[in-house]
Amino acid sequence: MQPSKIAPKDRLIVALDLSSAEAAEAMVARLGDAVTFYKIGYQLGYAGGLPLVRKLTDAGKKVFLDLKLHDIGNTVARGVESVARLGATFLTVHAYPQTMKAAAEARAGSSLKLLAVTVLTSYDDGDLHAAGYRLGVADLVEARAQQAQVLGVDGLVCSPEEAASLHKIVGHQMVLVTPGIRPAGSATGDQKRIMTPSRAISAGADYLVVGRPVLEAADPRAAADAIQAEIKQALG
Ligand code: C5P
Repeated sequence: MQPSKIAPKDRLIVALDLSSAEAAEAMVARLGDAVTFYKIGYQLGYAGGLPLVRKLTDAGKKVFLDLKLHDIGNTVARGVESVARLGATFLTVHAYPQTMKAAAEARAGSSLKLLAVTVLTSYDDGDLHAAGYRLGVADLVEARAQQAQVLGVDGLVCSPEEAASLHKIVGHQMVLVTPGIRPAGSATGDQKRIMTPSRAISAGADYLVVGRPVLEAADPRAAADAIQAEIKQALG
């Protein structure tokens, strides 16, 4: 995957964090051609959102399925095969070697790209210790990023603050997908480590995942257009 070749417009991924397929379809219609890439996560996926993957791809959009898979290898492999058939572009898995290996083998021959979640951004060193890990966040992120690369995973989900250091670890062949994006002046919500779209791009993010700043805007399309313009400008 060549991050430098990604079309500027495809770098904005709008998170369809909505409670029904109808609400999601209404938002997609409002955003029109301003947005080419959508993320479907737990909330929408478990509320009848999976058939939307095919509908969106049939309409020429790309879909990131944020399902963060992790199970025994065989189950992960079968799940990944099913996701590949849905036509999604990105799928997240947790960055455990067995899980990543099974997922990478199962998607071979399809156009599905895998993104690894190294350490959830809500975890700090204390949470890792409580979960039985001996490494802190920084060391575990580094170890898992390296494993992901060796196992053929295509990209990593990370905070924009981690982008520069992750590029040093994995180079520029893996794509970095960053949530925690807030255009200047928009509400932070529960995100703690945030960056504006232009700073995130300058820091090395390849794709920006944005939910509430678009979904909750008075004019979602104008909000998406403004982010697109900022991305384009930051890319120079
Ligand atoms: O509304 P907001 O822009 O904060 O949405 C960010 C999206 O990215 C949400 O769908 C959230 O689940 C997701 N995400 C995140 N932090 C991570 C991983 C995913 O905010 N570490």
